[in-house]
Amino acid sequence: MRSQSFVRPLLTLLGVAGCLVFLFGIMAAPSIAKSKGDRVYTFNDKDELLQPLDWDVPSDWREWVYVGTPLTPNELNNGKASFPEFHSVYIHPDHYKVWKKTGAWPDGTILIKEMTSVGSKQAVSGQGYFMGEYLGLEATIKDSKRFKDEPGYWAYFSWTDEKGGPRKKTTKAEPAGKCNICHQAFAKDDWVFTQYYPVLRAAKPGRGK
Ligand code: HEC
Repeated sequence: MRSQSFVRPLLTLLGVAGCLVFLFGIMAAPSIAKSKGDRVYTFNDKDELLQPLDWDVPSDWREWVYVGTPLTPNELNNGKASFPEFHSVYIHPDHYKVWKKTGAWPDGTILIKEMTSVGSKQAVSGQGYFMGEYLGLEATIKDSKRFKDEPGYWAYFSWTDEKGGPRKKTTKAEPAGKCNICHQAFAKDDWVFTQYYPVLRAAKPGRGK
């Protein structure tokens, strides 16, 4: 008899614990969907994009898929290139996987471009261009809901401080006439300059390596 009176409350306790685990599971589901879903980035309530390390699910773009580093040095542009830095471009791994499978950019795609100064032009290996310090940071996002009025649904962002100070924490979408227009006209694959990214060219289905 004694053992029975002990077993019943124990069963009740286990039942309650089970219900709580179930309820927490349901409550946790949306945040899991958020991190695994097609929107990896976070905007604040002023429609400004946060830097990836500050997203709801923080992400280090230097751990994403690196696709290439175009460089337009001053020496090849009459001493005054518009962007004389290295442009290292990264794509979020979720969107790289879809690109590899389909050759298209899914809704929610994000690419980051990180600018690095030209440091030394001389190394033990010879003369050339060697990366210096990190400077600017930019992004492009394809989002048919948030940017339904932008050409191709692509919007462009820059956290770079034009005066050379520290990067901005948050930034608004740039006007289409400042960024989108050139991408729309000259980029190879749906607003993205894949013609300059060997990693993305090689990964596109149906292409040779
Ligand atoms: C005159 C044409 C032109 C304009 C204007 C332009 N871009 Fe680009 N953008 C390029 C080219 C070319 C590349 C390929 C890589 C490189 O050279 O940096 C590129 C690449 C990028 C990338 C890497 C992903 C991709 O789409 O290939 C981002 C992010 C980006 N630009 C952001 C911007 C932002 C932000 C602005 C506006 C402030 C802007 N761009 C304006 C020509 C342009």
